[in-house]
Amino acid sequence: MDSAAKALGAEEVALALRAEAEARGLEVEILRNGTRGMIWLEPLVEVEIDGTRHGYGPAEPADAGAILSGESDKALGPVESLDWMARQTRLTFARCGVIEPLSLESYEAHGGLSGLRRALQMSDEEIVTEVKDSGLRGRGGAGFPTGIKWETVRTAKAYRKYIVCNADEGDSGTFADRMIMEGDPFCLIEGMAIAGLGVGAVQGYVYLRSEYPDAIEVMTRAIETARAAGVLGADILGSGRAFDMEVRVGAGAYVCGEETSLLNSLEGKRGVVRAKPPLPAIEGAFGKPTVVNNVISLASVPVIFEKGAQHYADFGLGRSRGTIPLQIAGNVARGGLFETAFGMPLGEIVEGLGGGTATGRPVKAVQVGGPLGAYLGPGQFDTPFGYEELDGAGGLVGHAGLVIFDDTADMLGLARFAMEFCAVESCGKCTPCRIGAVRGVETLDRIAAGDSAAIELLTDLCETMTDGSLCALGGLTPYPVMSALRLFPEEFGTAREAAE
Ligand code: NAI
Ligand code: SF4
Repeated sequence: MDSAAKALGAEEVALALRAEAEARGLEVEILRNGTRGMIWLEPLVEVEIDGTRHGYGPAEPADAGAILSGESDKALGPVESLDWMARQTRLTFARCGVIEPLSLESYEAHGGLSGLRRALQMSDEEIVTEVKDSGLRGRGGAGFPTGIKWETVRTAKAYRKYIVCNADEGDSGTFADRMIMEGDPFCLIEGMAIAGLGVGAVQGYVYLRSEYPDAIEVMTRAIETARAAGVLGADILGSGRAFDMEVRVGAGAYVCGEETSLLNSLEGKRGVVRAKPPLPAIEGAFGKPTVVNNVISLASVPVIFEKGAQHYADFGLGRSRGTIPLQIAGNVARGGLFETAFGMPLGEIVEGLGGGTATGRPVKAVQVGGPLGAYLGPGQFDTPFGYEELDGAGGLVGHAGLVIFDDTADMLGLARFAMEFCAVESCGKCTPCRIGAVRGVETLDRIAAGDSAAIELLTDLCETMTDGSLCALGGLTPYPVMSALRLFPEEFGTAREAAE
């Protein structure tokens, strides 16, 4: 049911398996689940024999007969023993690709709802303390401590408060939010309900991008199922406590992933950024104190309550506690999602997990953290994956997407793309971004035409955008631009100038 697997032909494979089973008169139960995250093996068929799941992939409809006979050359062996799976620490994504996404029974049978049941025995203060103790930080990109954000909302005085889930996953190369919403939607619902209990909110919204029609459908149906089963509503799990939620669909603007712009859009207004302060934690949705958290931040909450804050905090390095779902994409041999404790060196992710480039050529650079993230070169591959560690290397974790490029990548072209992207997606509220990005494209065109004197102008413009922009879109666009210039000055004409 994962849309990446569907895009690779999962529907056709499922139909072929059903037809083949019927033709042979076999009694086969075909269940549809989310993805394990090994996208290069999708469509992945798993055949359960005596409780062990054996994988076949990437499967094609023509493989159906051989898979049913157990004689397919696509056989991978037990899925849990595959190197990619065995090396992971799956806390947040433990059920993804395992359970049937819309079966509450399947969810509960795999530990679902035990976190919520525990939270229902705790006071609001204890809930927030548990999240603080886990060390969880915002997985949307900024890495702000989730427990402190919740504490601000909990202690704010208001007759209404809200939980807003930011599911406007706009970063290129990222798909963790989509994957969990399509593969384990009750996990997000449970996390939002616990957030509601912690801060005193009875209403939640999932702001979901329109580009994710499958996730919209799965989330909507999961909310209906949860409500019908008494997991959501006026009396959650018979506790007398209330929490309900709904999906609100965005209209396709990247900047609506910025929290204040998202809130404007959620309220039916144009998606422009609001100045902070006031923080959404004080004046958020409809002017009321609001927790705005990314999907992965909220979906990590159930396991924290199920296994305890300390269990979660025991993973990681430095101030980056717990696990992070790395999303490996671009020109890479093995693309997919890999959940691991913070701390894995960048080179191990790119070469060890990703297996280098799909083209087989040397890796030139990896962009970490979406279109606003910096390019890092092989010289920085010993950098551990952590908030402070990447910051020290001039980069950022962002939403933990890694897009890999081989040695044919045109870095000046990529820098131009960053400026162009910012110009197209700018909300127009502040000058450094609205006008700066357009001037940035023009300046990079001058550099491409051989005017290396324009490099100083570009550097100056980037400083202005960094210091003067109201939000991360204008403020972080200089990251990819300046990192490309720093890493590959010769492609910007500086070497040419020196040679002349
Ligand atoms: P920010 O640093 O302004 O804020 C982080 C969060 O902490 C916000 O929710 C803010 O309201 C909250 N906060 C700050 N101080 C607080 C306090 N005292 N009490 C309660 N809450 C407080 O960063 P921003 O602008 O929200 O996010 C920027 C990041 O977004 C970038 O680092 C970038 O990596 C990421 N990003 C992610 C994208 C995605 O698709 N997931 C797309 C674009 C950017
Ligand atoms: Fe809008 Fe760009 Fe300014 Fe952000 S930086 S407020 S997107 S104009």
